[in-house]
Amino acid sequence: MNFYPDDVIEEVRLNNDLVSVVSEYIHLERKGGSFFGLCPFHREKTPSFSVEPTKQFYYCFGCSNGGNVFHFIMHIENLDFVEALRFLADRAGMVLPEPDNKEEQHKIKLRKDILTVNREAARFFYTALAGKNGSRAQQYLYSRGIGIQTIKRFGLGFALDDWSALSKALMAKGYGEDILISSGLSLKNKNGKLNDRFRNRIMFPIFDLRGNVVAFGGRVMDDTLPKYINSPETLCYSKGRELYGMHLAKKSLEKKLLIVEGYMDVISLHQAGIDFAVASLGTALTNMQGRVLKKYAEEIIISYDTDTAGRKATNRGIEVLDQLGCRAKVLQIPEGKDPDEFIRKNGPEKFKNLVDRAISHLEYKIRQLKLKFPTDNPDGKLAFLNGVADLLTEKENILEREMVMKNISRDYDITIDTLQAEVERRLNQKKRKEKRNEFNQKKRSLTGSIGSFSVKRKDGPRETHEHMLLTLLSRENHLYSVVSERYPVSSYSEGSNREMAEVLYQKLSDGNDFLLEEYITKLEPAKAAMIVGFSKDCNFEEPEKAIEDILKKLETIKLREEMKDIQAQLKNINDVNEEQRLKRQLQEIIQRMCR
Ligand code: CTP
Ligand code: MN
Repeated sequence: MNFYPDDVIEEVRLNNDLVSVVSEYIHLERKGGSFFGLCPFHREKTPSFSVEPTKQFYYCFGCSNGGNVFHFIMHIENLDFVEALRFLADRAGMVLPEPDNKEEQHKIKLRKDILTVNREAARFFYTALAGKNGSRAQQYLYSRGIGIQTIKRFGLGFALDDWSALSKALMAKGYGEDILISSGLSLKNKNGKLNDRFRNRIMFPIFDLRGNVVAFGGRVMDDTLPKYINSPETLCYSKGRELYGMHLAKKSLEKKLLIVEGYMDVISLHQAGIDFAVASLGTALTNMQGRVLKKYAEEIIISYDTDTAGRKATNRGIEVLDQLGCRAKVLQIPEGKDPDEFIRKNGPEKFKNLVDRAISHLEYKIRQLKLKFPTDNPDGKLAFLNGVADLLTEKENILEREMVMKNISRDYDITIDTLQAEVERRLNQKKRKEKRNEFNQKKRSLTGSIGSFSVKRKDGPRETHEHMLLTLLSRENHLYSVVSERYPVSSYSEGSNREMAEVLYQKLSDGNDFLLEEYITKLEPAKAAMIVGFSKDCNFEEPEKAIEDILKKLETIKLREEMKDIQAQLKNINDVNEEQRLKRQLQEIIQRMCR
């Protein structure tokens, strides 16, 4: 965890505003001083995920996940602390210093080496395609209408029909076995020799946004299976992260992006002048890919196959984009063709027409509904119309709602008023539910006196009040002298409270500021979430008074503990003098408690 100096870590934090980081994942809306959105860490319909712009905390009232920007990235990207640090440094365009840790240094070097060897391999494949052993592969590409310019632009190549041509060539250039295996280009066989992963296949290098070759896909030239072999996940490549063709599509002048399923679709589309096409590499769109798309385009059009798997992927894609607050559309190709086939048959212009006529996400859902409930009988029609009303309730945009209602009322012989009434009824229901939720949330995060402080944790009163004291003091540093005198570090219960007190008191006594935002960086996520949750609940209008109340309470708790202790001792005592002494002490304590 401490491979990097604290001030570097803090700088990374300060350079990544939490509101804008979170906005890359979910849609946030301002409400008072905070931002709210649907929690990305659990399923919910009404927003209980909040971001505090000044404190740079996030907290979810629903699932109690919370922390600062590091914890957010660790959770959502599934990274450990150092990875999250690197991720955020990257995002802020910062160059981290060399970590003072061997393992980390090794990882950084390995990543660089994999990229170098991948580029070398791409060159090898490209040269092989142009060579005399590549003529069949060339023929294959030409037969699919792929021209030489396109081959160049996408760096297409050919893996020779040989067990170890690439491995041998790379080793001759000085690349070690370990790097060939780490990159996924080679595999060790039974005899301990290296075999090429890709043999006798058309090669598609996969580039990241910066143009690094991070992986490869390889296609057979006939009907043998598997049709494609892909690089495994490596230090440089994770399937759900990359989008094939994105390094080119990001330069398109169009303000939209088209998502298709496969390598060949992207290539064929670009060749036809539709240079804003990318592929999600055979998987349904992931949140990570969605974020990249959102960064580069205002409008995102999904054009997956129309088969069951494709429909599922479309729905999932819409869901992902919706959560990111993107405008998603759907393009359905007639006769169940994929974009490549369609263009080959009908030409680019016809495809561009399809792009212009891509339907809104709402319309797509309505079409799906129509397929599900045939409307030629009364029952089906009723189910369909109810489904439409449900969908319309989810839509925020009044104009779109109005337009759809008009069409539906025309097509299904039902008055607009009836449809409107059904939607209104649902909207009111929804509003009532939201009100209820809001009320419950408020009840949970009470402000003001300690008496109404709500505690969800199992901690006893002492831990709870220590927590309040620490939270308050970390926000009101000027109260340090009062607090430290009456409740020194040694008074804290052992464990995380005392640890935090040690850091906090040390900083303040040295005359430094203590930032809760910074402090929680080093805490494990569960603890950070707890502190953030606490700090949210802890909104005192008059901190001086609150501190006084808390200190009194803690003192009382302490006295009560002492009292219990003495009472226990008194139970089994024989020495009369000792008994007298303890009784006097008890008397004193009781007097102090009454003060
Ligand atoms: N895919 C894969 N492995 C497979 C099959 C498919 O990784 N065994 C991925 C590839 O990224 C492929 C995408 O899923 O591009 C779509 O699959 P498919 O439609 O079968 O491939 P196309 O690219 O359309 O290939 P072609 O037109 O040459 O059949
Ligand atoms: Mn295809």
